Amino acid sequence: MEEERVLTNRELKEDTFEETIRPDSIDEYIGQTEVKENLSVFIKSAKMREEPLDHVLLYGPPGLGKTTLSYIIANELGSNIKTASGPSIEKSGDLAAILSSLEPGDVLFIDEIHRMPRYIEEILYPAMEDYVLDIIVGSDSTSRNIRIDLPPFTLVGATTRAGDLSSPLRDRFGIVSKLQYYTEEELKKIVERTSRVLNAKIDEDAALELARRSRGTPRIANRLFKRVRDFAIVDNLEEINLEITKYALNKLKVDKLGLDDTDYNLIKSIIEKFNGGPVGIEAIASSIGEEQTTIEDVYEPYLLQTGLIKRTTRGRVVTEKAYEHLGIEYPNKR
Ligand SMILES: Nc1ncnc2c1ncn2[C@@H]1O[C@H](COP(=O)(O)OP(=O)(O)OP(=O)(O)O)[C@@H](O)[C@H]1O
Ligand SMILES: [Mg+2]
Repeated sequence: MEEERVLTNRELKEDTFEETIRPDSIDEYIGQTEVKENLSVFIKSAKMREEPLDHVLLYGPPGLGKTTLSYIIANELGSNIKTASGPSIEKSGDLAAILSSLEPGDVLFIDEIHRMPRYIEEILYPAMEDYVLDIIVGSDSTSRNIRIDLPPFTLVGATTRAGDLSSPLRDRFGIVSKLQYYTEEELKKIVERTSRVLNAKIDEDAALELARRSRGTPRIANRLFKRVRDFAIVDNLEEINLEITKYALNKLKVDKLGLDDTDYNLIKSIIEKFNGGPVGIEAIASSIGEEQTTIEDVYEPYLLQTGLIKRTTRGRVVTEKAYEHLGIEYPNKR
């Protein structure tokens, strides 16, 4: 089950400690340099113009810092943030209520914005463009449209699947930023920051090792940090070192590339059942008993990023690197 994986990039209950380690200013937000630099300019300019910041769409795999960045945007603007999430907006009235509660300059953060039904989404178009809310009152014969003015506000939308957003919605965001996987150096800095915030010392080698095995994802780095810290505490260590880090990660079944059993299963099933591919995502999903979207959002991006699998027009293919990594002989068939 994916939810039990220590390596899942999805948010787990135990990640509530995230609240304490979530950076709250742009200077403390490590990495994503390009996105940060551009946003800083746009925020500054909006403040100088005394106008709301253009609507912002943040997208990228789970755990890379979309929610964190949204709160930082509001902080840097000196604005209040109101939050909602796509799946929780079930009726058009839900969205109308949220919109009409906005105050001038507010940031409205909608998480998983791709999961809003289309007919609700349409309410957002005039709200984003002209700061107005069109609603229908009354029923059938007596129904009429009324238009309510909204205060100027900034919508920040976050999504793991930009492709699932309808184009009319996507086109209404003036600022569209894609978050990238973090480098080892950046993740090392994140680990070191977390160590300071949680007051748990870690040496450089250990921080780098954690960074290497965190799938380019801050959420995973922080979670692994916490688990490794447990091993260090029980061993009475004053500082987390490389030895305990390797030991703990072994126990947690996190390999050198940050892969776990589920990744192995996925790669192995392509090799064993489909001759290494090409194979369609549906077939992979049913062979390992996972949802297609889970594979696409959670497992596959990192496997593609590290070059263990490749996407071709005919489906997914396991690369030579993956065979090597799993210690399986590479057939000379391709
Ligand atoms: N740039 C960063 N610098 C330092 N820590 C970060 C950074 N980005 C994310 N984090 C840490 O990683 C955790 C996960 O980030 P966040 O919740 O913002 O991810 P997300 O992209 O919103 O994920 P999801 O798609 O699941 O909503 C945060 O609690 C924060 O502590
Ligand atoms: Mg989030």
